[in-house]
Amino acid sequence: MKKLIAGNWKMNGSMDDARALIADVINKVEPDPDLSKSCELLVCPPVLHIPAVRHAIHGFPQIKFGAQDCSPFKNGAYTGDISAEMLKDSGCSYVIVGHSERRQYQKETDAVIQQKAERALESDVIPIICVGETAEEREAGKAEAVVSEQLKHSLPPLNTFHQIVVAYEPVWAIGTGNTASPEDAAHMHTLIRGELAQHVKDADKVRILYGGSMKPENAEALLAAENVDGGLIGGASLKAEDFIAIARAA
Ligand code: PGA
Repeated sequence: MKKLIAGNWKMNGSMDDARALIADVINKVEPDPDLSKSCELLVCPPVLHIPAVRHAIHGFPQIKFGAQDCSPFKNGAYTGDISAEMLKDSGCSYVIVGHSERRQYQKETDAVIQQKAERALESDVIPIICVGETAEEREAGKAEAVVSEQLKHSLPPLNTFHQIVVAYEPVWAIGTGNTASPEDAAHMHTLIRGELAQHVKDADKVRILYGGSMKPENAEALLAAENVDGGLIGGASLKAEDFIAIARAA
């Protein structure tokens, strides 16, 4: 399975910054055709910057773009929401759902995340469903149970094969500089693969990304761990050099 290297730009930068960042990414990807043979590259800018990124990567099919969230509803009177259909219409291939920052700050529940993933699939946008335990949950020995429960309740009901992505992002590793060890990542990813097998068809075809302080220095070991099919990268995706160094490590 080709690894997926996804950049989550979060709520950072101006329109000009987004244009400069994507131009930098393109400049590094273009002269390196081997890169896109070994991994798929995805950037998830703030939604307002998506048209500028789309424009910039026109003619570079090796770089995909997506969004960081979508509405759990199809359309209608939901002020401020952006539907999965609108994302599709804007050219998005992927959408992140259930990121821990949204679980924490917007109080998103597994049930809402499941609805978002369903809306994404209906619109032919691949959901990246995020799960991960907090430091307290890990210390209490509950990491596996928490991740299994989140996954079980956030997965959309799937009777036939659909492309979905799962991202394991331990909350204590996000933006902190701490990462799971490759062994711990492999352990959790293998557990996730097993859980997936009980709920979806062809679980072995689902990419499971690791996220949480992935950087050029630790990417190679993490990406080589068992059942780690790519990375969801926050901070390091804001520097094209680091983002592409991670992609090279894949
Ligand atoms: P980080 O963020 O790489 O900055 O830790 C990862 C994420 O939140 O997706």
